[in-house]
Amino acid sequence: MGFGIYVHIPYCLQRCTYCDFATYVHSEILPPHEYFSLLKKEAAFSAHLFPKGSLSTLYFGGGTPSLVDSELIVDLIQNLNNLGFKTGPETEITLEINPATLNPQKMENYLKAGINRFSVGAQTFSDSLLKSVNREHNSRQTRETLSFLKSYNVNYSFDVLFALPGQSLDDLGRDLDEVSKFKPQHVSPYCLTVPEGHPLSKVRLSEDLQVKMFELIDRRLKQAGYQQYEISNYCLPGRESRHNTLYWTDQAYWGVGLSAHSYAPWVGQFGRRFWNPPSIGAYQSLIGGLPQKTQSPGSHLPESLREDLLIHQSLTDYCHTFLRTDSGLSLDHLETKYGEPIALKIAAILKSQADLGLVKTDDEARYSLTTEGKLVSNQVYAALTFLEGEISL
Ligand SMILES: C[S@@+](CC[C@H](N)C(=O)[O-])C[C@H]1O[C@@H](n2cnc3c(N)ncnc32)[C@H](O)[C@@H]1O
Ligand code: SF4
Repeated sequence: MGFGIYVHIPYCLQRCTYCDFATYVHSEILPPHEYFSLLKKEAAFSAHLFPKGSLSTLYFGGGTPSLVDSELIVDLIQNLNNLGFKTGPETEITLEINPATLNPQKMENYLKAGINRFSVGAQTFSDSLLKSVNREHNSRQTRETLSFLKSYNVNYSFDVLFALPGQSLDDLGRDLDEVSKFKPQHVSPYCLTVPEGHPLSKVRLSEDLQVKMFELIDRRLKQAGYQQYEISNYCLPGRESRHNTLYWTDQAYWGVGLSAHSYAPWVGQFGRRFWNPPSIGAYQSLIGGLPQKTQSPGSHLPESLREDLLIHQSLTDYCHTFLRTDSGLSLDHLETKYGEPIALKIAAILKSQADLGLVKTDDEARYSLTTEGKLVSNQVYAALTFLEGEISL
């Protein structure tokens, strides 16, 4: 089993209209060096509760990790090593980057510290669309950042945000041309999602156009040699994000920093999920007032910020996350975790979804979504959502 650490860096140059992540305009919260002191305090407080030794993955997400002084990132990696979480060439270390925030000095520091994967928030190459959602950079700067990464011959990914208000299929086609041109090892196409009532929800693209966009992305990326290994993620062979794969395959991760989520599968019968508060004031008070010792992961957090999973919650999460992946849900693996009667129940549900053409299976009893199933995945997930009392061992 792998184990990874996520570190949240909540600084941004500006706030994009659609963004719901816990982030702030950099000048509006405590200076980064103070925030990094809190990160180190949090890490030291709980380090004894997580698996030591060689770390599978380390992910700096945000926010805009490339905005803060690179020395702070380097120092944090060293700090985690000192705490026993060893990083080496075998560790996938990812840093999220916004266009126009890199320079050669930063890059050299990152590479020296072992960062070996970069994820760029390109979003779209249409300057007018970038502007319409309050992005700070333009497409020329994105191209410069991508060319800069390419010149170092490093492993990098970029995010494509689609279904932006006013976006046409041709606009999206031009963004996909850029993927073919730069050929990053990994691409994450995300469909714009905003809650009801959000200003952008009033100008949402039609369902029909969104489906056409999904289909265009899938066709173009597959033609360019990418495989869809997860609903929103494509990669060249062997270039899956190992960190995100932890999230989809029931493996342990520890989130440090504002709003960061953790999963400790070994706590209780079905594991514990816990998460830090999303507002900076609450996070500062939490870390400032940490007790002397904590007994188990997340036990220092109030009950509203942690959940010891009951069987129906664990099984629901298990089915939903594995089904996001192309390698799918293995009934044998599920049976090892939950036992035969539950595996039989899930097999029957998956078979009924297969009869509808939404799920397919292979010789090893691994189930995954069909192309049609991906388009109506909510329907499949609804059939695999369990209520309290519905499942027992
Ligand atoms: C944690 S964000 C940080 C990325 C980076 N700060 C940036 O904006 O370039 C990671 C990705 O989530 C996606 N994202 C953010 N808000 C979204 C939304 N409302 N709907 C869909 N995808 C979203 C964007 O593609 C973004 O690159
Ligand atoms: S730069 Fe990224 S993290 Fe920051 S507000 Fe925009 S989308 Fe959100």
